[in-house]
Amino acid sequence: MKNLVIIKIGGSVITNKSSDKPVFRKSICLRLFEEIAMVKKKNNFDLILVHGAGSFGHPLAKKYRLNEGFVNSKTSRGISLTKQSMLKLNNLVLNELIVTGLDACIVETSAVATTTNRRINTFNLESVSNLINKKIIPVLYGDVVIDTKKGISILSGDQTAVYLARKLGAKKVIFVSDVKGIYDRNPKEFTDARLIREVNASNLRSILSAMRNHNKNDVTGEMKGKILAAKQDLAGISTIIISGLIPNSLRGALLDRVNGTRILL
Ligand code: IPE
Repeated sequence: MKNLVIIKIGGSVITNKSSDKPVFRKSICLRLFEEIAMVKKKNNFDLILVHGAGSFGHPLAKKYRLNEGFVNSKTSRGISLTKQSMLKLNNLVLNELIVTGLDACIVETSAVATTTNRRINTFNLESVSNLINKKIIPVLYGDVVIDTKKGISILSGDQTAVYLARKLGAKKVIFVSDVKGIYDRNPKEFTDARLIREVNASNLRSILSAMRNHNKNDVTGEMKGKILAAKQDLAGISTIIISGLIPNSLRGALLDRVNGTRILL
């Protein structure tokens, strides 16, 4: 698909991720979809949306240790509650898409994908491409899926976005985060952290070694994972990280005016 753009919207953008209870950020979600709709009116491209879990998924996943697999008799309750919560978020996201006039359809990730040791093993790509062919936006999300080795696993929205980009041949992948992109130090801790506008083969190693994950509720890893995924699977695909909290950043990224980090590997 030559004209395919994949947007992963982080749970830290559309929810208050540091909250232990689920909190949806409706106005931010709506603004992001309005930015997409604005660009889509004038430019013809196919789109897949993937959203993260934030406070709708991570606290429950952590409580029931879902990232470790099917570990004990409470795991099934954990799966049930986490999936219920993710479907709530998913429905809230769909509402905002519909309000914006974007035609979208949910693809429940766990119904189309399985993993082996946390990496995607099977994926029914047709369930996604059939919608795109009908000009309907497929909406997937970070989910709890069946894992052939661990029983279950958390399949992050990032991994799903990267997988779809590679398998369907996307031209661009945009990660919408709560920070502008990759920094030389954690921007949430250091006010003088410097934004790295481009990650490429020459600065890759030094950037990776300086990184640490920094949110106690996140079970899937943050920027480091995005860079590694870009290195392994997104070679040749334009990969962009922007902040969804800064108005018009998503619109700019769609129009190739990037106010964030571009990964070229
Ligand atoms: C995690 O998805 C899914 C669950 C915890 C159920 P993501 O890893 O894509 O979520 P965010 O973007 O980090 O919140």
